[in-house]
Amino acid sequence: MEKESLVAIDDLNRSEILALLERARYFEQHPNSRLLEGRVVATLFFEPSTRTRLSFETAVNRLGGRVIGFSDAATSSTSKGETLKDTIKMVSNYADLIVMRHHLEGAARYAAEVGGVPVINAGDGANQHPSQTMLDLYSILKTQDKIEGLTITMVGDLKYGRTVHSLLQALRFFKPIMNFVSSHELQMPREYIQLCEENGIEYHEYTEFSPEVIAASDIIYMTRVQRERFSDIMEYEKVKNLYTLRRSMLDVAKPNMRILHPLPRVNEIDIDVDDSSHAYYFEQARNGVYARQAIITKALGIDPLAK
Ligand code: CP
Repeated sequence: MEKESLVAIDDLNRSEILALLERARYFEQHPNSRLLEGRVVATLFFEPSTRTRLSFETAVNRLGGRVIGFSDAATSSTSKGETLKDTIKMVSNYADLIVMRHHLEGAARYAAEVGGVPVINAGDGANQHPSQTMLDLYSILKTQDKIEGLTITMVGDLKYGRTVHSLLQALRFFKPIMNFVSSHELQMPREYIQLCEENGIEYHEYTEFSPEVIAASDIIYMTRVQRERFSDIMEYEKVKNLYTLRRSMLDVAKPNMRILHPLPRVNEIDIDVDDSSHAYYFEQARNGVYARQAIITKALGIDPLAK
């Protein structure tokens, strides 16, 4: 098997996505092994993270590999002015695979080009978060028993939300009906609306998070309004509390509707939703370990079923 980077979800076609989901299912059943024995994975996080970094590191540890890296770029030589190119070239000397989160859009693509080892994009600015998409798709598949033909409602910051951008790109293979609920300021960018149009995806844009939209949904994908993406804090203050999902709003939901959220949440899902049968966001985060075990082994050219 070839080694390969995962920079954008667009790097994968439908059958590659389905194969990764099968692999995630395998790892859910077999989370512990020695498949990565003797391998070193570097996790370079230039932006904060809880789930992505820790689930990647858990994935490596459970597969018998070792982890190096940093969770705060201020502790690396970046703080002395070292360029991203030099950092990646150095780390390529030490590790077999780089997992990187960076605030600059395109940073992961650049790292994959200049480095000597595969790179997995753990989020680049407002651009892409492909490993999140794989765990989102795996969560959808597990809860709905299919991905094809579902009504999926994305709510909140659809402008800067890299998770919704990546997920929408992957969903183009699965004929969804998309509902986009956001304020005018945080609408889904034009290029992603165009993607819907080019792929014949039915989509609807709303500013109101109405009972009708909730009732029609198989999946509600809530997102946080990300303060860190706003240059004008007053703009953030205007939109930060527009959409909060509360338990009382779920009376109209289909019994099998599930609520996803990449997390962290601030106040867009009230805690009274947490023990509802519709809440799935904590299990979704757990699925991240299996999805990332699938991605890591694919990136390193390791076939778990061949051992
Ligand atoms: N979903 C996600 O990317 O979470 P973290 O920012 O905690 O990694």
